[in-house]
Amino acid sequence: MLVNATNMLLKARDGHYAVGQFNINNLEWTKSILLTAQELNSPVILGVSEGAGKYMTGFKTVAAMVKAMDESLGITVPVALHLDHGTYEGAKACVAAGFTSIMFDGSHYSIDENVAKTTELVALAHDHGLSIEAEVGSIGGEEDGEVADPAECAKIAGLGIDFLAAGIGNIHGKYPANWKGLDFVALDKIHNATDNIPLVLHGGTGIPDEMIKKAISLGVSKINVNTECQLSFADATRKYIEAGKDLEGKGFDPRKLLAPGAEAIKATVREKIELFGSANKA
Ligand code: 13P
Repeated sequence: MLVNATNMLLKARDGHYAVGQFNINNLEWTKSILLTAQELNSPVILGVSEGAGKYMTGFKTVAAMVKAMDESLGITVPVALHLDHGTYEGAKACVAAGFTSIMFDGSHYSIDENVAKTTELVALAHDHGLSIEAEVGSIGGEEDGEVADPAECAKIAGLGIDFLAAGIGNIHGKYPANWKGLDFVALDKIHNATDNIPLVLHGGTGIPDEMIKKAISLGVSKINVNTECQLSFADATRKYIEAGKDLEGKGFDPRKLLAPGAEAIKATVREKIELFGSANKA
């Protein structure tokens, strides 16, 4: 059932668990994530980056595929189709394409420009029944996890957005060996400054379980996972090919070749849903 992400995240906040956002890249990803959420009776958010959207030939294709697949598979758990780290133009395109949720990432703008653009997109998203996430304090792609300023977080959270991504030392991709961990003092300050708005933890890959649980206890209601599904898919596919299974019988048929990777994504998503506590919360 395609819905926006507002209610599922308010429920998560009040119930002290988090809903997983799993990024999709293609049909296999989408199918594996939807089936696993359904099996575990969990709400779920399908994240689409602008790059993945382009790869799948555009946001319209993505929205059509997700809607049709949700129906064809008989998915009854709440599913949000969400733009991940959207630009101003990308956010508008996703509203038009039929997404149910958008993220506008204005963290690289000055705070005033971030406020202006976010304000405009909040009105647009809400007019169309979508939920909207905004970001403060850029979440690094390398070894430079930033920490957001609580006063800036309060400013953006006060614009009517539905959930807020705030950097607390988290980064996308694998964490370096010398990573200092999440900054829980900063998270607590941000939580206190933002009127209990559901908070989003990006860079979910590789964060130790105990830190995930502590983050949830301090107001995180949505956790984004991307790289970990890519790694499990690649690992299972490599094993299949290295074992020469693509050369046995019709092992080269994409339905066979991609099956171990798709199963591996399911296992990763299952593990995360259980860790985040959203199983049986649909
Ligand atoms: P990872 O790729 O580190 O899991 O981060 C995903 C993410 O935050 C998407 O916005």
